[in-house]
Amino acid sequence: MRTLNWEDGAIVAIDQCLLPHQETVLRLRTVEELIAAIQRLAIRGAPALGVAGALGVALSARLRSRDGRLDETAVRADAELLASARPTAVNLRWGVGQALAVLSEGPEAVLAQALRVMEADDRVNRQAASDAADLITGLCPDRPLRLLTHCNAGALATAGTRGTALGAVFELAERGRIEYVIVDETRPLLQGARLTSWELARAGIPHRLAVDSAAASLMRRGLVDCVVVGADRITANGDVANKIGTYGLAVSAAHHGIPMVVVAPESTVDEDLADGALIEVEEREADEVRRVLGTPVAPEDTPAFNPAFDVTPAALITAVVTEARIMGPRVVTAGRAG
Ligand code: MRU
Repeated sequence: MRTLNWEDGAIVAIDQCLLPHQETVLRLRTVEELIAAIQRLAIRGAPALGVAGALGVALSARLRSRDGRLDETAVRADAELLASARPTAVNLRWGVGQALAVLSEGPEAVLAQALRVMEADDRVNRQAASDAADLITGLCPDRPLRLLTHCNAGALATAGTRGTALGAVFELAERGRIEYVIVDETRPLLQGARLTSWELARAGIPHRLAVDSAAASLMRRGLVDCVVVGADRITANGDVANKIGTYGLAVSAAHHGIPMVVVAPESTVDEDLADGALIEVEEREADEVRRVLGTPVAPEDTPAFNPAFDVTPAALITAVVTEARIMGPRVVTAGRAG
């Protein structure tokens, strides 16, 4: 099934908090339920958030219609709450905006628009993934690939069947080009361990899970040919916000002369922001750091940092690939932190 869908007036989604041990389907019938699912990361990943935003406006438009009259003011208030449920991935506000653009045409038009956003998601991500696979093949032509990825940028992070960065991995695997994929576990919420490993296992692609802090050492040992990740927001100058830990990977990759490729749909590009310093990085609850999947691992009141994302300067990124263009490839040299 798809990560996200629309069925009989409800948004249907796999609860990603429970994977890989339970495959539970959520039926979200109100905007409040949808926002709660987004905030606890039951629905997550930038492209999936874009589709959820569009479907959420459709849900609101349906609920706010009575006797043929649509309360547009109430829908716009719901839409603002939805768009600000998570601040970093620009796709969420983008998806909300796509659906709101036809609000004056009524709830059925809003739903049709949201379904178009959902259908396009699979198509554009497949295109970006295929172009990224071509690019990676050109950058690393000499041997079966040892790729390293972070967080989850697979089908689960989209409304489609492939994903972005992991979509490129699937494409390369179909072409017989993968030796193995190193999966960063991705603390604190373990999207790599729980979700990426699950997707790769289902696809039968060889992979090995590693703690996040192993990445630099694996690069130094010559075990990584290319780093491939998704993105939550890409600014006009090519800076990239992605899951916390991505910046460290970029620094290490540059130091070791390893290409780093970002794969994302155009809806992740925010031309309104000049550079990454302007991106709002979501700060989440300290308990996510003090605990591992709910089990305390630090004294109860230990103060913690918990930024959900970091920003990698464009100068450290070999290329950003979307369905419409390739920004790069550029030669990255260590020390060019931008
Ligand atoms: O906090 P999350 O799980 O929503 O963070 C997701 C990521 O950082 C992904 O790498 C990003 O959204 C790209 S998904 C194609």
